[in-house]
Amino acid sequence: MSSFPQYRPRRLRRTAALRNLVRETHLSAAQLVLPVFVRDGKKLRRAVGSMPGVNQTSVDEMLRDAEAAAKAGVGGIILFGVPEKKDATGTAAWDDKGAVQTAVRALKKEIPDLVVITDVCMCEYTDHGHCGILKDGDVDNDPTLELLSRAALSHARAGADIVAPSDMMDGRVQAIRSALDDKGHSGVSILSYAAKYASAYYGPFREAAESAPQSSDRRGYQMDPGNAQEAMREVVCDIQEGADAVMVKPAGPYLDIISRVKAETGYPVAAYQVSGEYAMICAAADRGWIEKDRVMMESLLGIRRAGADVIVTYFATEAARQL
Ligand code: PBG
Ligand code: ZN
Repeated sequence: MSSFPQYRPRRLRRTAALRNLVRETHLSAAQLVLPVFVRDGKKLRRAVGSMPGVNQTSVDEMLRDAEAAAKAGVGGIILFGVPEKKDATGTAAWDDKGAVQTAVRALKKEIPDLVVITDVCMCEYTDHGHCGILKDGDVDNDPTLELLSRAALSHARAGADIVAPSDMMDGRVQAIRSALDDKGHSGVSILSYAAKYASAYYGPFREAAESAPQSSDRRGYQMDPGNAQEAMREVVCDIQEGADAVMVKPAGPYLDIISRVKAETGYPVAAYQVSGEYAMICAAADRGWIEKDRVMMESLLGIRRAGADVIVTYFATEAARQL
């Protein structure tokens, strides 16, 4: 490499055309995934206070949002359910007539080219708000695997392209993979939330999904934010169990993890720009402290640059419109 004055990095920054020519990282709408919260009912649209622009919707309204996203070029949608009834074991999670299952069928009928991903977890469906069933106040790993498999199967029956377990139970990818294969759904992919941290950035989501744990927290199953080596072990486990793609979550504060997972596995990597990351950008922009559009795009570009192939973000439609 030559050095100054022969080498002048500023030469290639002189015009927009030059900058575009040598840009290393590109963001494309097709790589963005929009999260939505569906519940039973008709013409229902309830704003989520801590996430401006995000709503809980009935399936008909969700379709409008999905159509707008698809029209902007967004590649996929990830569905979360807000059931009317919750119980100790989260039975509504595998109800073939549930909001998520109904939404999947509607999406596959109306917008077949939009990739449909379903979040597989128990916390939206249990009355205690934990991601699995409880035994003596602790989340009981192995019996939870059967329930997660039932939920994933019902999503597959409805026509989901990808199921995305976000519970962080050990062995869930294996359990779900074999349940899907046993029932003839070998073509349904698994995107595992492999490195999911016990993060304070999930606060606004728990309002949207009405899924805050009623006692204690999720540190007994989600990962400790200080750990990177452990994230790699989690990712390797999930890949060995049959995950087709792996997710890192949250995204912005964990760019080092995204980068390592991509470099060390070569698998498709998704990153979830979570509710708190979204809310912070919206709140600061609302106060006029930052420029919303530029910070939104920069935050997404940073996640791409770190190595994410797919980005799950509440900005999906808005960002896609700018691309
Ligand atoms: C459910 C789940 C959560 C998120 C995605 N799936 C919440 C949690 O684990 O408490 C968070 C998404 C967000 O904050 O946007 N297990
Ligand atoms: Zn959960």
